[in-house]
Amino acid sequence: MKLKDKTAVITGSSRGIGRAIAEVFASEGAQLVITGTSIKSAQKTASEIVAKYNCKAVAVALDVSKLGSCEALVKASLDNFSKIDILVNNAGITKDSLVFKIKESEWDEVIAVNLKGVFNCIKAVSKPMFRQRHGRILNITSVVGQIGNVGQINYSASKGGIIAITKTCAKEFASRNILVNAIAPGFIHTSMTDKFTEEQERVMASVIPLKRFGETFDVAKAALFLVCDDSSYITGHILSVNGGMYM
Ligand SMILES: NC(=O)c1ccc[n+]([C@@H]2O[C@H](COP(=O)([O-])OP(=O)(O)OC[C@H]3O[C@@H](n4cnc5c(N)ncnc54)[C@H](O)[C@@H]3O)[C@@H](O)[C@H]2O)c1
Repeated sequence: MKLKDKTAVITGSSRGIGRAIAEVFASEGAQLVITGTSIKSAQKTASEIVAKYNCKAVAVALDVSKLGSCEALVKASLDNFSKIDILVNNAGITKDSLVFKIKESEWDEVIAVNLKGVFNCIKAVSKPMFRQRHGRILNITSVVGQIGNVGQINYSASKGGIIAITKTCAKEFASRNILVNAIAPGFIHTSMTDKFTEEQERVMASVIPLKRFGETFDVAKAALFLVCDDSSYITGHILSVNGGMYM
């Protein structure tokens, strides 16, 4: 068991990549804080994971764009488990549009959730992690934060910013034995990518060396590596899980 009795807080774990990360961590002995934008969705996922893995889990409603909500998440996690060993900043949204058409609100919302949300959660967790003098923070960025993408100025800016946050916090937190890394997924099958038609997916997959989209558990297994003791000399790293789409 690679995460026995570790407490892991995973934002946006009610579904998709966050849920797969929660399941892999649970299978390795972690106790979980599951979050969703609604308490109902978080509770449903938490109870399904508890039933499947016989682990401890609590559900918390979270809006990462609000610092107060992230502080309440940290408090609820500490009230339940007394410590936070792992924070995974996974919550994210898209509001795609070309630059000349994008609304100010679409820019603001994506930056508030994807970029400020990561800052808010890291700020909220930093004090208890500093006191513990250990911790792992894993941020979920994206290949488009590395290479850009047409129609995603807001999303790619937010994901590029997460890479900068990862490197800054890796440097700032290293003296407290807190390691900060990121995963940059390529195209992964979730509700975020199910808007593509079969034909669009075929065309997109044709330029990926592995010729397919990834699955949520491809990301989750990489996440396990970056939060367990196997990676104890790795910090500030951006791990690509993209089928070779960007090297
Ligand atoms: N699916 C992909 O192809 C892909 C590729 C690269 C990166 N990513 C990133 O992976 C992460 C997970 O995405 P996914 O594909 O599983 O998407 P998803 O839409 O299935 O899940 C997103 C999660 O974020 C939560 N969320 C949304 N707004 C929130 C808010 N304001 N506060 C708190 N939680 C909020 C949702 O409740 C949900 O649990 C995101 O950061 C996304 O940008 C996804």
